[in-house]
Order: sequence, then structure tokens, then C-alpha cells
Amino acid sequence: MEGRGSWCSQCVCSSLSLSVSSAATFVVNVTQSSYEAEENHSITLEWTFTTRTQGSYRELFIVCSLLAPHKELDLYEVHEGVEIPESQDEHFSGRVQSDKDVLREGRIRLHVSRLRTEDSGLFVCYVKTEDGFNSGRCRLNVTARRSHSEPKTKPETTNETSLRKWGHVVALVVVIAVLSSCYLFYKKVKTGEHNPHVL
Ligand SMILES: *[C@@H]1O[C@H](CO)[C@@H](O)[C@H](O)[C@H]1NC(C)=O
Ligand SMILES: *[C@@H]1O[C@H](CO)[C@@H](O)[C@H](O)[C@H]1NC(C)=O
Ligand SMILES: *[C@@H]1O[C@H](CO)[C@@H](O)[C@H](O)[C@H]1NC(C)=O
Repeated sequence: MEGRGSWCSQCVCSSLSLSVSSAATFVVNVTQSSYEAEENHSITLEWTFTTRTQGSYRELFIVCSLLAPHKELDLYEVHEGVEIPESQDEHFSGRVQSDKDVLREGRIRLHVSRLRTEDSGLFVCYVKTEDGFNSGRCRLNVTARRSHSEPKTKPETTNETSLRKWGHVVALVVVIAVLSSCYLFYKKVKTGEHNPHVL
């Protein structure tokens, strides 16, 4: 974080001074400006930057972050051509794989897995080389997966269901009939016993 702060303030200064000379020559593009994905799926975000016609950059700094509503979450950093996994925000911990081999071709390929809806937002990569500084951004929209409980299919057919329902009604009627006849019988016996005293 600290190292990035210092080089970034440097690159802002150099980008200001180089803006006229290098803005046109050093570019950072996105291969796709917006991505759609479903929760728990994975996606590959890709940027390209200007490479040298001869040799590669001696100096290569990259910071890729998710611009979330109140914070900036780093997902990928390269300092002097070396990946710095420690600078990655824990939000992305274990979920980002980079393709280091394509860096020399001027490509940043980040495979983000187990996507969360909170990963939605603007992803930006800042790239600084001895030729200049620039950035490219793309948007990611991670949609929540539909709830599993919603399309509940009934295992019984309607015929079975109504049969069962009628079975329950018949059983209930039988129980009520038995109970009431027991009660009537009991009452009859009781009144028969006590009748002489009452009269
Ligand atoms: C960036 O995009 C422009 C316009 O499509 C293209 O001309 C240029 O070659 C691209 N550069 C890189 C490094 O991808
Ligand atoms: C994200 O995708 C969903 C489903 O396709 C869509 O309804 C929504 O408008 C999208 N949101 C943004 C910010 O693009
Ligand atoms: C996403 O994956 C996690 C763990 O693999 C799981 O617990 C969760 O239910 C999944 N979410 C959806 C919406 O499928």
C-alpha cells in the first residue's frame, strides 16, 4: 500500500508532465468494456497496453483495483515487473489468477473466480512504464443466482393429492362419529345410572 502510494504519486506527476508527449503513444485498452456474470461463476478480465517494438520494459508497474462505493480494493499489483501478492486486498484473496506469461505481450489477464455480487463495479488497471502512464477501465456486473427454493415442483399429481385429501376428510368424519357416539353412549349410561336419584 505504502509503496504503491509513493510510486502512484510519482506516476501522477510524470503523467502530468508526460501527458502531452506520451498520452498518445502509451495506451491501456480494455478488450471488453463491460462484463456480465453470475454469482459463484468466474470471469477473465483483460487489458492491453502498448509494448515496445524492440525488447521489453525495464520498468513495469501495474495496479488493478475494483472501485467500490467507498473504497478501492486491489486485486493485482506488479512492481518493477514482479507480482506483489501481498498487496492484494483480502476481498480477492485466493480468487485471482494472473497470466504472467502474457505480460510481456502487453496483456494483463486476470481470472477472477467464485464471483460475489459485491465484485460488481468498475475495474481499473493503472500501468506505468518508462514510456508513460495510462489506465483502462471496464465494468463488471455480477448478478445473484435465483433462489433454489422458488421453483418447487410438487412430487404428487393432483389426482393423488385430492385422493389423499378426501382420505383425510373421511378419516376425520369417522373419528368424529366414533367420538360422538362414545360420548352419547357414555352420557346415556351415566344418566341411566343417576336417573333414579334425580327424579
Ligand atoms: C488500443 O485501441 C486502439 C483503438 O482500438 C488501437 O488502435 C490500439 O492498437 C490499441 N492498443 C493496444 C495496446 O491494445
Ligand atoms: C446487471 O445485470 C442485470 C441482469 O442482467 C440487469 O438487470 C442490471 O440492470 C445490470 N446492472 C447494471 C449496473 O448494468
Ligand atoms: C456459492 O458457493 C458457495 C460455496 O461454494 C455456496 O455455499 C453458496 O450457496 C453458493 N451460492 C449460490 C447462490 O449458489
